[in-house]
Amino acid sequence: MNGQNLSQRGRWGSKIAFIFAATGSAIGLGNIWRFPMVVGKYGGAVFVLVYIIAVALVGFTVMLAELTLGRYTQQNAVGAFEKIKPKTPWKIIGFVGMLTSFCIFSYYSVIAGWAAGYFAKTVSGTFKGTVTSQLSEKIFTDFTSDSVQAIVCLFIVVGITTFIISRGVKDGIERWTKVLMPLLLILIIFLAVKALTLSGAREGISFYLKPDFSKLNGTVILYAFGQAFFSLSIGMGIMITYGSYMPKSVNLVSSAGWVSFSDSLIAFLAGIIIFPTLFALPGIEPTAGPGLVFKVFPLIFSQIPGGNYFGILFFMLLLVAAITSTISLLEVSVSYFIDARNWSRKKAAYLLGIIAFFLGIPSALSAGGMKFFTDIDFMGKFDVIFANIMLAVGALFICIFVGWVWGIKTAVKEIHSGNPRFNIRPLWIFSLKILSPIVIIIILIFIKKIISG
Ligand code: TRP
Repeated sequence: MNGQNLSQRGRWGSKIAFIFAATGSAIGLGNIWRFPMVVGKYGGAVFVLVYIIAVALVGFTVMLAELTLGRYTQQNAVGAFEKIKPKTPWKIIGFVGMLTSFCIFSYYSVIAGWAAGYFAKTVSGTFKGTVTSQLSEKIFTDFTSDSVQAIVCLFIVVGITTFIISRGVKDGIERWTKVLMPLLLILIIFLAVKALTLSGAREGISFYLKPDFSKLNGTVILYAFGQAFFSLSIGMGIMITYGSYMPKSVNLVSSAGWVSFSDSLIAFLAGIIIFPTLFALPGIEPTAGPGLVFKVFPLIFSQIPGGNYFGILFFMLLLVAAITSTISLLEVSVSYFIDARNWSRKKAAYLLGIIAFFLGIPSALSAGGMKFFTDIDFMGKFDVIFANIMLAVGALFICIFVGWVWGIKTAVKEIHSGNPRFNIRPLWIFSLKILSPIVIIIILIFIKKIISG
């Protein structure tokens, strides 16, 4: 890496800055939009249980492995593998991760665009007065099937992301996350309390928290693990890239622990808002899919005095949470082109942003905007392929690489810098080398069966 690139890459101002940025990457639509959607579709409480196991056993392990690899090599997702095993196919993991992140970025921005659209709707007062489930359904369907609107919203999100990224890691990402993430947490807690006090909330809580083990099957396990990877932003190298911006004095174990915990907490609270509301104000099914939270949130706002203002605040914060994630999704590719191809940050950001925008159009049109893409459920397919399959593949290879190829000794040594004690070392090593790879391989073996049946 030459001098010009060193300044192009950037570095976090402090540990707390990293924590905010990594949490910002992890917390996003995955928690508030995707988590309730998959819980609703795949078994309710039993899904939640498998999800928690997935985060604690595999998710945390992989996140720590990625951060360690990144900080040791001081490289992006591709460069990290190349530095440790030069001129070997290992760097393909990095490239695949880059492709995955880029493709996730394309449809993720569509959903973020919906949040932007809903923000505009609340500002203009669309949801003022009593909102029934039927009305909420109709507003959502009308909105997403309007192809021009969907594409304009996509363009806005990609544009904002590209602009922030072009200004660099420190100026761009840090400034946003520091203030707005805590605000989001406060609002979510408030809404959760409100949802719990709705009459009829109890049925929703038992759907969400009382496991019905007869619903446990391969599909639940596949989606729960996919959701864990997706929500924690692991399996494609973003945490390698973020780790590379971390100073040596930072405790990687507690960082990974904190990010995993706070991410899961927000997802959990999102469920506490959605499911009681859903059952207390019936009309929308838990299996509603991508529209679930967009249909349900307006219902809870209409139950609160001055609810429209909460709606404005909520959709604004949802958009911000989404954008701190889109930043991380695009940053993987951008940092590669800066490091390896000597592109300037601006050039990398704008060029990749434009390509991603076009790649996102089919997804934007697949919620009713254009019959062809809607019929084949383009966005749903992209989501399964990249969020469930490719992230699992990526996580598997990261475990194998760090645990068996790179050498666990060097990895442990890197973790010791910033955390001399590293109490959970034996556990982490066991999970990294044996448990996680086996679990992921089993899931991947069954994937075909699960998806076809
Ligand atoms: N974790 C983010 C969310 O839950 C999405 C995301 C950002 C992501 N970066 C990622 C998912 C990298 C997978 C990989 O909204």
